[in-house]
Amino acid sequence: MRTLVNLTVLNKTTSLKNLHTFGIEVSAQEVIELQSQEQALNFFKNEGKQFQHALILGGGSNVLFTENLQVPLIRNSIKGIGIIDESEEEVIVGFGGGENWHECVKYAIAHQWGGIENLSLIPGTMGAAPMQNIGAYGVELEQVFEYLEAIDRMSGDLVRFYHADCQFGYRWSIFKGNLKDKYFISQVALRLKKAPHQLNTSYGDIRTILNKTEQEATIESVSEAVIEIRQSKLPDPREIGNAGSFFKNPYIPQSHFTDLKKEFTKIPGYPLEGSDQVKVPAGWLIDHLGWKGYRKGDAGVHQKQALVLVNYGDATGKEILDLAIEIQQSVKEAFNIHIEPEVNIYHG
Ligand code: EPU
Repeated sequence: MRTLVNLTVLNKTTSLKNLHTFGIEVSAQEVIELQSQEQALNFFKNEGKQFQHALILGGGSNVLFTENLQVPLIRNSIKGIGIIDESEEEVIVGFGGGENWHECVKYAIAHQWGGIENLSLIPGTMGAAPMQNIGAYGVELEQVFEYLEAIDRMSGDLVRFYHADCQFGYRWSIFKGNLKDKYFISQVALRLKKAPHQLNTSYGDIRTILNKTEQEATIESVSEAVIEIRQSKLPDPREIGNAGSFFKNPYIPQSHFTDLKKEFTKIPGYPLEGSDQVKVPAGWLIDHLGWKGYRKGDAGVHQKQALVLVNYGDATGKEILDLAIEIQQSVKEAFNIHIEPEVNIYHG
């Protein structure tokens, strides 16, 4: 084990099973945990070049490892939450990149700050949230995003990225594109709203739950409704390994959708405003082909949500990947639609 000043080096070869939500038994050459912005700045200034191929991981909730990592792993464990600025209506709150996402949602709700209640119970960390612009139940992170601070891995410089710099899209940002693997996100600042809150209850399932009571909806009740929906459909990674939606929902041209609708009359589609593209739920496509509840060894398709692949215990990353490829091919064959993984896949 190597000792780095002020750094927690966990081990030379460390199991990653408990460091990511798929629970695959793989190891890394070395795991380094960065616990403060200052420590991270020092580390990248002094050792960034040496660790340029290291993999950075937050909560590990959106990764699939198919082999042992041949590079070191750097964990973002930077904690801390604080107000940066506020007015009567709004508050800008800074969060450490290593903060657990759902704990941040709970913190915001406890302080009566609205804006992220629809994103309750999403696994992962604050630092990872902007990378793929997390979204659920009608809200995406970019809607409350103010800026983030990230450390240039090669120079150790601290850089601030505002909304316009991030190129946010559906499950997308510049940190998955041109700047992939170039920055370590140390802090994220969100613009949240004080009461009276504007709630987003456009998602049908949320309305159904809220309509069950006479009381007026609040950020707490919206959060509770989201938690209820997620718990009824999505497997808890503490009980069964998974990384949420395995695939992204594909966009296809309207003409393709119209053709499909003739053969598959129940296929759902959501036209994208201002374009000729239609978003089709990959979960429906996979479900329609009978994959839901499928299991081969310990790799499977979740029983209640076909978009989620699961590890029942001892599946290897390769087994999950093989299943994903089989599903991908069957969707291509049946609907002529290519579905892309949402999860980041690491091959050693
Ligand atoms: N559907 C099926 N069968 C299934 C799953 C879905 O027919 O097994 C149909 C549903 O009936 C519904 C449609 O597909 O008409 C959409 O399903 P759902 O509302 O469950 O949402 P999703 O498109 O499957 C997306 C996100 C989720 C997010 C939910 C709610 C992606 C890739 N996934 O799933 O995000 O929680 O919407 O907003 O965009 C994640 O990213 O890990 C994630 C869980």
